[in-house]
Amino acid sequence: MRKDMTAPIPSLIAGLLIAAITAGPAGAQEDILIDDFESNQYEQWTITGSAWGTSPASGTLPNQMHVSGYLGEKLINSFLGGDRAIGVAVREPFLVKRTHLAFLIGGGRLPDLLGIQLLFNGEVIRSATGTESENLTWSSWNISEYIGKEVSLRIFDEATEGWGHINIDHIIQTNSPPKPFELATVLNEYRQTDQYMNEPLRPQYHFSPEINWMNDPNGLVYHDGEYHLFHQYNPAGNAWGHMSWGHAVSRDLTHWEHLPLAIPEADGIMAFSGSCVVDHTNSSGLGDGKDAPMIAIYTGHGNGKQVQNLAYSHDRGRTWIPYAGNPVLDLDLTDFRDPKVFWHEPTKRWVMAVSLANEKVIIFYESTNLTQWKELSRFGPAGVVNKPNWECPDLFELPIDGEPGKTLWVLEADMGDGSIAGGSGGEYFVGTFDGCRFKTLQHAQWVDHGRDFYAPISWDNIPKQDGRRIWIGWFNNWQTSVTPTSPWRSCMSIPRELSLKKIAFNQEEPATYVLQQKPIGELRSLRFSSISLDTDRLSWPPRQITQGSKISDMSFELEAQLRPGSARSIGLRIRTGENEFTEVGYDRQYAGIYVDRNQSGINHHPNFAGRHTSPARVINNHINLRIFVDRSTIEVFINDGEGVISDRIFPTGETFSIEAFAGNETASIPKLELHFLKSIWNHHHEDSKP
Ligand code: FRU
Repeated sequence: MRKDMTAPIPSLIAGLLIAAITAGPAGAQEDILIDDFESNQYEQWTITGSAWGTSPASGTLPNQMHVSGYLGEKLINSFLGGDRAIGVAVREPFLVKRTHLAFLIGGGRLPDLLGIQLLFNGEVIRSATGTESENLTWSSWNISEYIGKEVSLRIFDEATEGWGHINIDHIIQTNSPPKPFELATVLNEYRQTDQYMNEPLRPQYHFSPEINWMNDPNGLVYHDGEYHLFHQYNPAGNAWGHMSWGHAVSRDLTHWEHLPLAIPEADGIMAFSGSCVVDHTNSSGLGDGKDAPMIAIYTGHGNGKQVQNLAYSHDRGRTWIPYAGNPVLDLDLTDFRDPKVFWHEPTKRWVMAVSLANEKVIIFYESTNLTQWKELSRFGPAGVVNKPNWECPDLFELPIDGEPGKTLWVLEADMGDGSIAGGSGGEYFVGTFDGCRFKTLQHAQWVDHGRDFYAPISWDNIPKQDGRRIWIGWFNNWQTSVTPTSPWRSCMSIPRELSLKKIAFNQEEPATYVLQQKPIGELRSLRFSSISLDTDRLSWPPRQITQGSKISDMSFELEAQLRPGSARSIGLRIRTGENEFTEVGYDRQYAGIYVDRNQSGINHHPNFAGRHTSPARVINNHINLRIFVDRSTIEVFINDGEGVISDRIFPTGETFSIEAFAGNETASIPKLELHFLKSIWNHHHEDSKP
């Protein structure tokens, strides 16, 4: 399995936690180390095959996703040469002297082909396999019945396909086996810390999980006064794995309340991405006769395939019951995922858009009861067909600015790699949907011109009197996803209101329908202080126009009007510090607005640095920008959202200034308003939740 390629330093917090967990009660018998794989040789292990090389691995191997959770510097890792490589490692026999054998394990979950076995008299008496995660976690066997007997170990990798590797570290004999990561305990400890939701790189008005890894938004739905935000979540650590649905709710789309895990990985089947609907008429029969049930439709990933599953809730999404008839769709395929379901009023039925990821095909299904589905049609391959993957589709109808009463449909899908700014990103098509078939009117366009906006989906069931179509995306890129933050990883974008507008970015091209993304109006309520910045006499080099040093200064919005005149470029530098800045500017040569993060701070990955440009129109000599900055994020909305650039940044400085520049005296910045935005977290860590 490869998605990300390099490895930053393993998390300090994880290391400390493991040290605390393994310490054991005072006076207890000491643990006996079987191997910590810290040596430059395999020593007591006999190695065959090519998967292990001649010495233990120093963490992540070439082309492997980031490996974490091991102790010290090294581990035994069979990814040398990729998933194809196979091999066996056999340990010299040893005497059992403690009740348990414990070890850290990660890698693929293929019990017949991959794992670690305990042997007694040549027979396998215990075995374990990986968890489909590169994050190693504790596992242990009770072996008390073998005390005084001689046993040996065998680590084997006979798997050659995806996830065909196993990672093991720190094998010990112990009387008090380390507990696997316990979400509730670690979460409670984190809630008592001064850093709670307030680390220097923690976004303050963007949603992020309290601790651990998050990816795609899932199941966005409005119900009974609450906007639900489910998301891909690892309850066992700060790296991808054990995918489950995390949960948060909001009443205003700006303040979020973290809630307990909604849909867990179960029996080795992960809960991958999907959507949620409110079944107002109880068409599914899964209601309790009182309120309309919430129904989640998501991908079950495990046993070598991907199927579509249902779960339902009678208590406003707080607890979930897996549907007894799961799966509701099974094509016996390994790449069939991320169902988006909605009610299609004209044909009075549920419609699902779901992806055949590797084929770059979206299949549409219909159902009257959410449990039985019939194929309607297929769309694709389309867009950038020579690049991998389509994931997380969304399909919805939108109004058109300037064409009252007219609507068109948008089909959005996300590519795992090869998008406009590099790595993962979304494409969209604009066309018609008659309840059966989607037909595109024009070529595919990029959803966002930055590197960090992925897998957006829109809220379902927003009340008619509101009428907006609002989405959020994962503020990250698979290629550089192992961002330098701990104990959490990733945040969501700000919610964006969607509409279409027919425009031409330049005179040579015909006008097309462009997706406009506007920051939702609710965000204005977070402004707590606003100032107009003085932008007189601009030239090159950039001139400092304001500065700040309080942590609350690092979350703000800038409203800027640029007047490029005849200059080649004009713009701003934000979060500038010693040798650091992020530049936002207009570049005439590319007729676009760019975000340049080459020197924005920590470049944690070789592909992180760069400049990302979106086409931008100069309208009546001006370009209007709304720039949202939030400690480790920047989102630039160009001319009312005709173009967007979303990028993570990881500045290191505690003080910063904003600077402005202009290529010549014909260029100016007639308006520059700075609005400081309040934290949505309020830092109330005393209000512990169950
Ligand atoms: C997209 C994705 C989805 C999948 C999920 C797994 O980012 O790869 O296709 O359901 O992540 O976490």
